Amino acid sequence: LPYGIVGADLKEVTRRVPLDEPPPLPENAKLKSIGKPVSRLDGIEKVTGRARYTFDIQLPGMLWGARVVSSQPHARIKSIDTSAAERYPGVRAIHVLERVLATAKLRDANAEKGNRYPTIRYAGQPIAAVAADSPRAAEAAVKLIKVEYEPLPHVTELEEAMKENAPRVFPGPTEQPATAGGGGAPPGLPQKGNVRGPDTKPRGVGPRGDVAKGLRESDVVIEAEFRTQVQTHVPMEPHGLVADWRDDGLTLYASTQYVGSVREEAAEHFDLPKSKVRVISDFTGGGFGAKYGIGNYGLLAIHLSRKARLPVRMVLDRREEHVSGGNRPNSIQRLKLGAKRDGSLVALQLQAYGSGGVAGGAGVGFCHATLYSCPNVQVEQFDVFTNAGPCAAFRAPGQVQGIFGLEQAIDELAEKIGMDPLALRGKIDVSGTDDCVARAQERKVGAERFGWNKRRPAGSDKGPIKRGVGFAQSQWLYLVHRHTACEVRVTGDGSVEAFSATQDIGTGTRTILAQVVAEEFGLRPEEIGSYVGDTRYPTGPASGGSRVTSSLTPAARNAAYRCARDLAARLAPILQANADDIVFADSKVMVKGKASSAMPFREAVKKARFQEISHRAERRDDYDGYMMQTDEMSISKHGIGGVQFAEVSVDTETGIVKVERLVAVHDCGRPINPKLTESQIYGGVIQGVSYALYEERHLDPGSGQQLNANVDQYKIVGSREVPNIEVILLEQLGAQSSTDARGVAEPANVATAAAVANAFYNATGKRIRTLPMTPANVL
Ligand code: MOS
Repeated sequence: LPYGIVGADLKEVTRRVPLDEPPPLPENAKLKSIGKPVSRLDGIEKVTGRARYTFDIQLPGMLWGARVVSSQPHARIKSIDTSAAERYPGVRAIHVLERVLATAKLRDANAEKGNRYPTIRYAGQPIAAVAADSPRAAEAAVKLIKVEYEPLPHVTELEEAMKENAPRVFPGPTEQPATAGGGGAPPGLPQKGNVRGPDTKPRGVGPRGDVAKGLRESDVVIEAEFRTQVQTHVPMEPHGLVADWRDDGLTLYASTQYVGSVREEAAEHFDLPKSKVRVISDFTGGGFGAKYGIGNYGLLAIHLSRKARLPVRMVLDRREEHVSGGNRPNSIQRLKLGAKRDGSLVALQLQAYGSGGVAGGAGVGFCHATLYSCPNVQVEQFDVFTNAGPCAAFRAPGQVQGIFGLEQAIDELAEKIGMDPLALRGKIDVSGTDDCVARAQERKVGAERFGWNKRRPAGSDKGPIKRGVGFAQSQWLYLVHRHTACEVRVTGDGSVEAFSATQDIGTGTRTILAQVVAEEFGLRPEEIGSYVGDTRYPTGPASGGSRVTSSLTPAARNAAYRCARDLAARLAPILQANADDIVFADSKVMVKGKASSAMPFREAVKKARFQEISHRAERRDDYDGYMMQTDEMSISKHGIGGVQFAEVSVDTETGIVKVERLVAVHDCGRPINPKLTESQIYGGVIQGVSYALYEERHLDPGSGQQLNANVDQYKIVGSREVPNIEVILLEQLGAQSSTDARGVAEPANVATAAAVANAFYNATGKRIRTLPMTPANVL
């Protein structure tokens, strides 16, 4: 198998194949397009700068937008004077936010009855925006807008905000919504001071058994507190939107993870039918959970465009991106783990506090209740409001924080009872599931590749440089977008095109779409017109929850399969054969078993003399193994996940920690494109190393301002700090759809910090319970 792919041995194959769906695919080795490490079809466009990101959009007459943001962390606005800005040359429109910031659905917690302006609750909160002929004029006008504040007491630090006499971020119980995919506490939980909760059923997974009793009956109890930092989203392309308001409809160009939700929110907010709103996203320069909705920058752009009757571009600058673009909440996790001498878990208790700033959704506990087999589980999650920028979903929200604690505690337990950490996981994995089978194989393959048996006792090196190895595993949801459609079209000249209203956030969506369609027609992926990023196409999946490949590819294959069958019927008379005997291969059409009948694909289609064949198909949603379904997604009772092995070196004199090597073994269903699948895992690991070692938002408690709100000060991993990463894919065929594809992006980011922390312990003999592993936290 290519690219370090190993095969899985699935316990359960539950899929039934309906009549209008194609038969199961054979293994990738027998396929020509699916399963091949095809380079991105739009790679040349990207590296030459021809790819048109939202950032690059230029429309005739387009105005430049800029926002006025609060200098205060907590204040009432007494007055806003825009008169000087209005007179500034080149200014075409000004919009001041009065009360409502978000859409009706996402109720604006800043809106308070009787106040003309929303209360300011963090430094950097948008107040107003300007559209002008040039970026310079817009920025100058922003500076001329005078805002008079009445300052209120503020609190920016998590632990400070938890104190009884802390300034209140919200005066009363708030229904601040949890962020998209954030897994946070649902609204309506009791609030005391700034603390909301506890949520005892994170993501719907409730408590079980009796934890106190379980802890009493345990032979070994591990008790520890873990702390994680705020990580800001640092996509290459910041949040941005270009709005073009016309009498006959609204066109939006958006850097987004879902064109569908941008359209929905714009329609709702401006009371337009969806048919009058078109969202286009040719390319999105990265999105890790914070680019779902329209955002206040987007709403402001639309307001300004409506006022100026011209297109308006509103793209956040780096500072705004760090401050208000979303972040991964920090956490304080108090964890208790009880076990028997043989390693079996008896009790698991987690109390987690986290702050998503002015937004809810700081949860960290989800994974604890489902990852391992344990009869007594209690998770309590608390959201703590602070005067800081809002959190957003962030690549496996909650799990990255939670696994950092849990997987270290499991390692501590292994050490206490004298068991190999891998063997212990084998014992406590939830048995009898595909996940358990996958994890076992992943550990076996990874341990061999990594050389786990060469592991030495903790703190073996004298120093100052100490080396060690560590392990952690992850589990994420295998979810699919419920209503996913794709249209495939064969035109009389032999063109084949595919359309779906999903988007490419950098993952290679167009390429895998082309690969799946190409397979049914025996064409090469580059011969397929592959179109995404426009709400005029049939509804496609959101790029979140690692769901695009698992949702889009079955819909695409179903549509392509039907087109190919219709095409075969048209070609049968030309080739003087039965439609069932027509074969598409190597960009040719032929009769099965008769190589002499081969005719180039295009030539054959032209001979059939038709205008167009097209089919629109959906991903089937009648699989019976779902754990849960919402309006938007179906979640399988099986997960996706993987294991990671890390080797680190710790300089005990300088406190510099380096990740030297990392082996990641992840399950992926069928890798539609192993190169892109691997790239997702590289990305997840790199982002995980960055989180483990470097990233941290620093707020000045006095002013509430972020001190490191740019990429020159907010340290992310650089290329020289990226470890040698080896990726092994665990292929699982016969899964839940006509392509067997599953997502990989999020689980790849979950285990890294924990694996690095366990390696840190093995190197030094000391536990690192606080992230990031900077010299200040290490020494
Ligand atoms: Mo992801 S945090 O589901 O975009």
